[in-house]
Amino acid sequence: MRILTGIQPSGQIHLGNYFGAIQNILALQDKGEAFLFLADFHALTTVRDPEALRQGTISAALDFLACGIDPARTVFWRQSDVPEVQELAWLLSIVTPMGLLERCHSYKDKLAHGKEATHGLFAYPVLMAADILLYQSDLVPVGKDQKQHLEVTRDVAIKFNNAYGEIFKIPDAYIPETVAIVPGTDGQKMSKSYGNTIPLFDTDKAVKNAVMGIVTDSTPLEAPKDPDTCTVYQIYKLLATPEQTAEMAANLRAGGYGYGHAKKALLAAYHAKFDECAKKRAELAANLDYVEGILREGAERARAIAAPTLAAARKAVGLAR
Ligand code: TRP
Repeated sequence: MRILTGIQPSGQIHLGNYFGAIQNILALQDKGEAFLFLADFHALTTVRDPEALRQGTISAALDFLACGIDPARTVFWRQSDVPEVQELAWLLSIVTPMGLLERCHSYKDKLAHGKEATHGLFAYPVLMAADILLYQSDLVPVGKDQKQHLEVTRDVAIKFNNAYGEIFKIPDAYIPETVAIVPGTDGQKMSKSYGNTIPLFDTDKAVKNAVMGIVTDSTPLEAPKDPDTCTVYQIYKLLATPEQTAEMAANLRAGGYGYGHAKKALLAAYHAKFDECAKKRAELAANLDYVEGILREGAERARAIAAPTLAAARKAVGLAR
């Protein structure tokens, strides 16, 4: 089973990204033939600064490799290194009804947030369909917000196959039901746009400041506390072992255990979980040629699958003999 997903580089990653998405992506490596790419063509629809795009893409590569993407088990590449995807996007656009794209929530949301209505934003789902169909993917894990784009992909694939013959596999979306909602330092969902994140890769000081800045109530140190309403505990739960988690819950309920104690425990659990990854990331960052080599090799493996698919699609529409 071929499992494929793409991620848009989006700047500094945080615990919300890790427990909401990255962890699920890492798990795919054991479930089938894993394909993961950095969607820089898609990122172009919103990033206009060339250096920011370049840096962001490499930074995302470092993040994923550091967190445990294993290039021996996952085909890992940069989307734009396989230009075949653009030609396929055009062939797909031929059969894509305008109405299908006009209904896309994601496009409408972006306009509502003040983005300019460009053809790139509008055609975004067609390129995404090309990403998926080019590699004959079986399963595409995505967040809820991308569900409609997967429906567009399936519709477009069916239309193309009906018009020109069975060229594409019809992929299934995989939307994990139990995506962890990670609370941010203010108790709301952790999100860069709320400024309430705990970064994954940053200086010890920045991490410490974020953890110490978690908002707590004013229950005095001696008083019993409810773990369910304690943001520190809610984040700790994600990082610590079940035994450690049970211990903190008991401590909070018993009283005499303050939020400062809980924050210290959280910081220790953070370092226990991520220091190894941070070390690996620093090593990779000092060896960017090696990282480029991984992406290049990934692109070659991806192209070996892309080329025959595109050739079949070209032939089917009458572009080649
Ligand atoms: N649109 C996806 C997102 O923002 C990223 C993406 C691009 C993608 N192409 C894809 C995801 C193909 C899955 C399959 O999250």
